[in-house]
Amino acid sequence: MNDPLVDHVAERFKAFAGRYITDRDDAFAYRLKIDHTLRVLAIAERLCRDAGLDAGLTQAARLAALLHDVGRFPQYQRYRTFRDAESANHAALSITHTLREGLLEDAPSPVRRLVLGAVYLHNKRFLPPLRSPALHTIARVLRDSDKLDIYSVMIAHFSQENPKHPEVALSVVDQPDRYTPAVLDTVLNRQHGDYQAIVYVNDFKLMVIGWLYDLNFGSSARMLQEKGYLDTLIDWLPQNEHVMRLRRQVHEDLARKAECA
Ligand SMILES: [Fe+2]
Repeated sequence: MNDPLVDHVAERFKAFAGRYITDRDDAFAYRLKIDHTLRVLAIAERLCRDAGLDAGLTQAARLAALLHDVGRFPQYQRYRTFRDAESANHAALSITHTLREGLLEDAPSPVRRLVLGAVYLHNKRFLPPLRSPALHTIARVLRDSDKLDIYSVMIAHFSQENPKHPEVALSVVDQPDRYTPAVLDTVLNRQHGDYQAIVYVNDFKLMVIGWLYDLNFGSSARMLQEKGYLDTLIDWLPQNEHVMRLRRQVHEDLARKAECA
């Protein structure tokens, strides 16, 4: 996908993020976000291709993927956390710093507006009704791509015996046999999860499983199926009848979503 504007913004993003890596003690946190960003970009490209988006929408989606977490760098530097509730809305920070650094200065203003709109919306619990069909599309591509990559980050994190960097899972309580029944019910009811309800690491896994219900494209569901992320997460929960019901439901729902366009 040759696009000089995307290549240029990617270089500028890497230069911007690279400035934070010099902070040796926290290099891990910044690297996590750089790697995440580049994988989100790759996923967004696949979603755009699978959904048959035109060159203009694909360009905006790629730029939004590159810039969506720009705010994570100043957020971590200032507050030493990725928890927005304890620091600042990182999507708003992404916009402030994208503008301050001129990361999008070479983009035509309609593209800039679209990209900043999608960045702003990427971490909202719900996508509000949007008048612009283009923004609606880009925001949905970005939200799916972001979630799909966070699945892999979480699975890598939970695979470690003693995770070295608890901030990846927002530092919640690790009691392998405990979860909050209300969080499981939210997923079983196919409702949106709420970060505030999370107490245990297993709650976090449940909420991430529930993101299935937020996915917007059949292609996103197919990627989830290919990777087997949901089964892996469910394997790590206490195996009781409620969780078995969850597994059956998730299998059926994922298969149904994967058949959509
Ligand atoms: Fe983000």
